[in-house]
Amino acid sequence: MDKFYTTTAIDYVNGAPHIGHAYEKILTDVIARHFMQRTNDVFMLTGTDEHGIKIQKTSSELKMSPKEFCDANAKKFTDAWKLLDINYSKFIRTTDEDHKKAVQNIFEKLLKQGDIYKHSYKGLYCAGCEAFLAEKDLDENGNCLIHKKKPEVVQEENYFFKLTKYKDAIIKHIKNNPNFIIPTFRANEVLNQLENIEDISVSRIKANVSWGIDVLSDKEQVIYVWIDALSNYITALGYDTVNNSGLFKKYWPADVQVIGKDILKFHSIYWLAILMALNLPLPKHILAHGWITIDETKMSKSLGNVVSPKSIIEAFGLKEPDALRYYMATAAPVGKDGNYSDDDFKEKVNAHLANSMGNLLNRSLSMLVKYFDGEIKQEFIKDSILFEQAKRTIGEVKHCFDYFEVAEAALKINELVDLVNKYVTDNAPWTLAKENQIEKCGEVLYTTLEIMCTISSLIYPYCPNIALKMAKQLKYDINTKLDDMKFNNIKAGKLISKEEITPVFLRLDSELAKDKKSK
Ligand code: MSP
Repeated sequence: MDKFYTTTAIDYVNGAPHIGHAYEKILTDVIARHFMQRTNDVFMLTGTDEHGIKIQKTSSELKMSPKEFCDANAKKFTDAWKLLDINYSKFIRTTDEDHKKAVQNIFEKLLKQGDIYKHSYKGLYCAGCEAFLAEKDLDENGNCLIHKKKPEVVQEENYFFKLTKYKDAIIKHIKNNPNFIIPTFRANEVLNQLENIEDISVSRIKANVSWGIDVLSDKEQVIYVWIDALSNYITALGYDTVNNSGLFKKYWPADVQVIGKDILKFHSIYWLAILMALNLPLPKHILAHGWITIDETKMSKSLGNVVSPKSIIEAFGLKEPDALRYYMATAAPVGKDGNYSDDDFKEKVNAHLANSMGNLLNRSLSMLVKYFDGEIKQEFIKDSILFEQAKRTIGEVKHCFDYFEVAEAALKINELVDLVNKYVTDNAPWTLAKENQIEKCGEVLYTTLEIMCTISSLIYPYCPNIALKMAKQLKYDINTKLDDMKFNNIKAGKLISKEEITPVFLRLDSELAKDKKSK
């Protein structure tokens, strides 16, 4: 594998980022960081989707220009991702000049080759979906199934994209590539949607929607949101822009495009058709994640239960986002819905990160200091069958990530942590020390610490700060690639002194954490 390109959906900026948006960015960042351990070249893209009627309406209600409104809100997203240590390579905004020009070029190209045509149309438009709805998208009262609001009747002469022309090729692609859509159970849903697919509107009359990208050859029309938004995945790499930096050639096609299940149709149908029309390769995988609820309830402004990642970090006084990253990344098996609750968050991260993993390292290092003044003696260094298990875990974790099973991979890491904890309990180095079985005691500590090196690497994508602290105390090079991992990291000699030992993660309810919180 020579490169890895991953993208997230770009978020609408009509509000502040919530934990659902954060879930997706965390998942993608964990995937990107994992693949950084397998290739030298990873590019992660995220950004904001800033055009459309909703932004136009909200900004005018606030007596702001749409651009001012977008600037203010886009910053909330970049701030949130900074807080969560989302290590993106580029943050694209659909109001970026380069992007706008590239979208205009794409539109003209499709128009010229006959994939876009003008057509008079009457349809039901839902501003929440930023899409025209069909009968099946409405409930018995004629409301949008998702937004529970009556769509607006829109009659316009718009440009249409010949989606139907690509229907058979898309069906073939999905059927021939069973892992194209992950989780695979969603592929059937898409195939069903493809049955009744029609050509789609890709522009609006400027008089009705002005906040959009102008159609170059028709000043009365603006390019409608989805063609603008979806193109970000290639314009961000310089496709069809003046500043073509060679990134497109290097990174496209994407290895995985991470999105929520609600926008799978746009990505596995519309996006594929656009790429086919542009004669470009298709992304290798689309990962459609599930929905995050709060205390098992759907988040909504009207219920007042919209939770931001910032509010959680502040409420728990977290100095680092690792605990929240870990909790969110493991919130649901791949593609399934997950939930956030304060109690569960506290319980889970205390159990996994503090009690099992952090404590294991802390105890082992403290015993090494207590019994051997922090020194590993040559005679402690022996091969162990546990190394075989650790090697297997590395393979299993890689296998999970090959299918973007982020939560499942964490379970494998936890199993290894549990196994090492059991090994320590079963061998009781404290008893061995008391009974003067010095060599055996040292061997148990050495074996444990050696495997902690592997664990720090494996946990790194989820908890980069904790992993770095672990690696520092183990004098382990955390940049070791997964394929180069050996079990000879801990060398004979002084490893650590008492002063260097620090807990890598404080229990959320510990006195120490409370103390830090109040400072
Ligand atoms: N702007 C479009 C995406 C265009 S991609 C070319 C959009 N924006 S959004 O802000 O509504 O959603 C952004 C992403 O966040 C989507 O992938 C969406 O599924 C995800 N989520 C929004 N709320 C969510 C939850 N409650 N839970 C999990 N993810 C959710 O759609």
